[in-house]
Amino acid sequence: MGRLFDFMLPEAKSPTAESTDALFHFINEVSLILLLGITISIIYFAIKYRRKSEDDVPPVITHNHALEITWSVIPLLVCLVVFAWGYSGWLNLKSVPDDAYEVKVTAMKWVWNFEYANGAISPRELHVPAGKPIKLVMKSRDVLHSFYVPEYRIKQDVLPNRYTYVWFNATEPGESHIFCTEYCGTDHSGMLAKVIVHEPEEFETWLQANGGGPSDDPVEHGESLISQNGCQACHSTDGSKGIGPSFKGLWDSNETLADGSTVKVDENYIRESILAPQEKIVKDFELVPMTSFQGILDDEQISAIIEYIKTLK
Ligand code: CUA
Repeated sequence: MGRLFDFMLPEAKSPTAESTDALFHFINEVSLILLLGITISIIYFAIKYRRKSEDDVPPVITHNHALEITWSVIPLLVCLVVFAWGYSGWLNLKSVPDDAYEVKVTAMKWVWNFEYANGAISPRELHVPAGKPIKLVMKSRDVLHSFYVPEYRIKQDVLPNRYTYVWFNATEPGESHIFCTEYCGTDHSGMLAKVIVHEPEEFETWLQANGGGPSDDPVEHGESLISQNGCQACHSTDGSKGIGPSFKGLWDSNETLADGSTVKVDENYIRESILAPQEKIVKDFELVPMTSFQGILDDEQISAIIEYIKTLK
C-alpha cells in the first residue's frame, strides 16, 4: 500500500525523504479509505432507506451517544497520530547531527554559491560526500530566496541579514536539482544549481583540487569572480543580449546611455558601473536595475574583473 501514491513524488534520495514520504503516504491512504468508506455508505443507505411508498414515515432520531462518540474519537485519534508523526519529522529536520559537514551557502540574484572550510568556492554546484550529514549555513546577499531540493524533501528560506540552516544526508553518489522557490526577480526561474554527491575519497580529491585561495593570474581570478557573483545571470560573455549589456566587445567601446550621451568604456567606467550602477545606465537596459557591489568586491577584485573583461573581445 505504501507505494500507491509514489507516482506523485520525485525519487527519494535521503533518509529524511523516506520518512517524509511515509507520512505523506499515510495521510493519503487514510484519506482514500475514508473517501471510499463514506461514499459507499452514502450510496448504500440512499438505496436501502429510500422512500418506498406515500405513507412511508421515517422514525425521528434526536441523538445517539455511542455513534456520536465513535465518529468524534476515531478522527481525533487519526489527527493525533498525524500530529505526533509530523512533529517528530519536524524535530528531525531541525536537529542537525553533531558530526555534520558544514558548507556555507550564499544566495544572490540569481546564483547559488557554495563555500567550503578550505576556501574552495563552487558556484551553482554543491559538492558533498555520500553518506555523511551535511549542514548548510545560508544567507542572502540581496532579497529573499528559498533553497529547495525536491529529492531530499528539504526546503528552507534564505534571508538577508540573518543566517538560516538546513541539513540532509545523501546516501548514494549522484546528482540532484536545487531550485529557488521564493520569487526573487526577473531570473528567479533560472536560479538553479545541482547537488553533486561524490564517494567520500572522491570528494576529498575534489576539495583539495579546488581549495587554496584565488588564482595568481588576474584574468583567471576575474573570471571566477564573475561566476561567483552571478554576473552572467544578466551579462553574457558571448555577445548575446541579456538583462544587462554583454561583456563581449565591451572594453574600449562607446556605450550610449539612457540620457542620450555616450561614454567610453575604460577602467573608471567599469569600476563605477560595479560600485554605483545607477549612475550611468546604458540605453535599452533601464528596466531591471543592477544592485551595487559596494562592500562586496574590493579594489583588487574589481581590477581582476576589468582584466577579464578586456580579454572578451
Ligand atoms: Cu532566488 Cu527565486
